[in-house]
This record gives sequence, C-alpha cells and structure tokens, in this order.
Amino acid sequence: MELRTLGTSDLRITTVGLGTWAIGGGDYAYGWGSQEDDESIQTIHAAIDAGINWIDTAPVYGLGRSEEVVGKAIKGKRQSLIISTKCGKVWNDQTREVGENLDADSVIGECEASLRRLGTNEIDLYHIHWPIPDASIEEGWEAIARLIKEGKVRYGAVSNFSPGQMRRIQPIHPVTSLQPPYSMLVRNIEDEIIPFCEKEKIGITVYSPMQAGLLTGKLTRERIENLPEDDWRKHHPLMQEPQLSANLEVAKRLTELAAEYGKTAGELAIAWSLRNEAVTSAIVGARRPDQILANVGASGWKLSDELLSEIDAVLKKREAAVS
Ligand SMILES: NC(=O)c1ccc[n+]([C@@H]2O[C@H](COP(=O)([O-])OP(=O)(O)OC[C@H]3O[C@@H](n4cnc5c(N)ncnc54)[C@H](OP(=O)(O)O)[C@@H]3O)[C@@H](O)[C@H]2O)c1
Repeated sequence: MELRTLGTSDLRITTVGLGTWAIGGGDYAYGWGSQEDDESIQTIHAAIDAGINWIDTAPVYGLGRSEEVVGKAIKGKRQSLIISTKCGKVWNDQTREVGENLDADSVIGECEASLRRLGTNEIDLYHIHWPIPDASIEEGWEAIARLIKEGKVRYGAVSNFSPGQMRRIQPIHPVTSLQPPYSMLVRNIEDEIIPFCEKEKIGITVYSPMQAGLLTGKLTRERIENLPEDDWRKHHPLMQEPQLSANLEVAKRLTELAAEYGKTAGELAIAWSLRNEAVTSAIVGARRPDQILANVGASGWKLSDELLSEIDAVLKKREAAVS
C-alpha cells in the first residue's frame, strides 16, 4: 500500500488507515447501533492482513469499548502497527453521558486508561479530540507534551482544530498532525486548513472520507430510514431531505464512475480525499471484513484529470440541487 510521511515525524503511514468508531457499537449518544466484538476483531485483522499499518480509535468510541477491542485485536501484532487515540471526551459511567475536559489531571488519567485498554505502554499518535473547552487547549496540550517526555506518547496531534487554535499551541510543542473531517460533501478544510497545515508542515489525516458510509453507494434510503435509534446517523442533516436525494444521487454516480475502473464507490470517495498530497492519509471506518477489503484499493489510486472533472460536475449538480 502507498505510504506517506506524517508531518515532520518519522511515522510512515499507509494512505488508508482503519477507523474504529463504529466498532464501539451503540448505547450512547454517538453510537452506531449494535456490533459484535468478534466481527470487529476479524475486521481489524482483515485490515492488517491487507497491509493497513495504522489504526485510529478514541476512548469515547463505545465509552472504552473500541479501545478494548483494538487492544485485543492487536495482541502479538503491536510492534508493526501505529496506534492513534485521543483525549478530552469523558463520560459518566452511570449515566453514560459524554462531556469535555482538557484539564491536565484529566488528560493524564485518560492516557493511563487508554494505555491499559489498548494493552500497550506507548501511544504513537495522541490527539486532543475536540478543542473544547477552548480556554483549556493550552493546558491539555502541555499535558500531552509531558506524556511525550515521559515516553507514554510518541507524537502529539489535534482534531477538529482551527488554524488559530493550532497557532496557539504550536509554541508549547510542535503539532504533528491534524485530524479534520473531509469528504466530497464536507469540504470546509480546503480554503484555509489545508494551506495552513502545508505551510506549517503539519500532517493531515482526514476522517469520514465516505461521509459515514453515505458515499459507498450501499447506504440506501430504506436503510437510512430504518437505522436504529442508537445510530447517530439517523438524524444527520446530510442523511435527511432536502439533502438526502441529492447525496444519494452523488453516491449512485460514484458507483457508476468507479465501476469503469473496476473499483467501488467507497474507493473513489477515499482516493478523491487523498488527491492533494498534503492529505497524508484517510481514516476509513469499517465494521465487517468485507467492508475494509472493498475500500483498501483506494490507496495508491491516482485519479485522472478527466475523472476529477467528471466528479466536479457531479458535485456542482448536487450544489445546485441543495442550494
Ligand atoms: N476526530 C473526530 O472527531 C472523528 C470524527 C469522526 C470519525 N473519526 C475517525 O474516522 C473514522 C472514519 O470515519 P467514519 O467511520 O465516520 O466514516 P467513513 O469511513 O466515511 O464510513 C465508515 C462507515 O461506512 C460503512 N461502510 C464502510 N465500508 C463500507 C462498504 N464497503 N460498503 C458499505 N458500507 C461501508 C460502515 O457503516 P455501516 O455498515 O453501518 O453503514 C462504516 O462504519 C472513524 O472510525 C474514526 O476513527 C474521527
């Protein structure tokens, strides 16, 4: 698989990384409905066997469950993998309500808990998950710098930060990478964030490149209407009218265009998100082995100018339909 260097670090990561939010399952505010751990472990193994060398997780995914499943799956395979996780989203065990905390004590405690759940003594890439509360990002980042000095974390990263927020913490410790959302349907990072990261030599690992499954062409209107209550996508605006019809049309056209190259719509959506080399890697979620196997072919697929123009036309048509 294609490898790119993450920012100024010595991490060489595959351009497709495995995202493990969905394998945290349901039963909390950001859940994805029910999920079997055995199937999740098989999915992680399928990703590793296919050549993916890095896995992204977070404590909040399934309130500890995703990290625990990743920990079980990587036993005996840890050395060859790059493990990415996060801090800042904390929860109450009784109510399962999620909140935010970037106080130093909280970040240090979260890191210890992640190391335990993941069964490792060092996290390769450790993110502040959201810049909330904004006033605490410096304190949270200082705590990560401390964890790096202590050898518990190799590189510090952020997610969902603006350029201004990255500028504030850069003097404390260099930011290795940013994890922002990016897909054909959510393109906010193109104007300021990508140029900023390029200039500052900050790596970019984009999340939800298939827009949480919508751009796979497999998430039908019927399935969306029947998503369980504990799947956060049920009420997402991109999956509701007036946007839904236009987005499903994009997915249909991607399926047709990708088929001309013997690829899947998911692979086309992911390869598109990687077309600018300032994007180091795309984090691709999967909950079954066949899903990740249908997407790994995005790595190394250079889209031709002709195909990019066809996609532009599809997206312009969508813009016109939703505006
Ligand atoms: N830092 C952050 O704030 C943040 C936020 C979001 C995500 N992330 C990270 O980024 C990762 C990826 O994002 P994501 O999971 O939201 O979105 P995604 O990668 O765009 O979509 C993943 C979902 O699409 C569906 N899918 C995948 N392959 C498929 C296939 N071949 N055919 C049909 N459906 C398929 C699966 O859900 P179904 O089978 O249920 O449809 C899967 O869970 C996450 O797992 C997480 O690690 C980070």
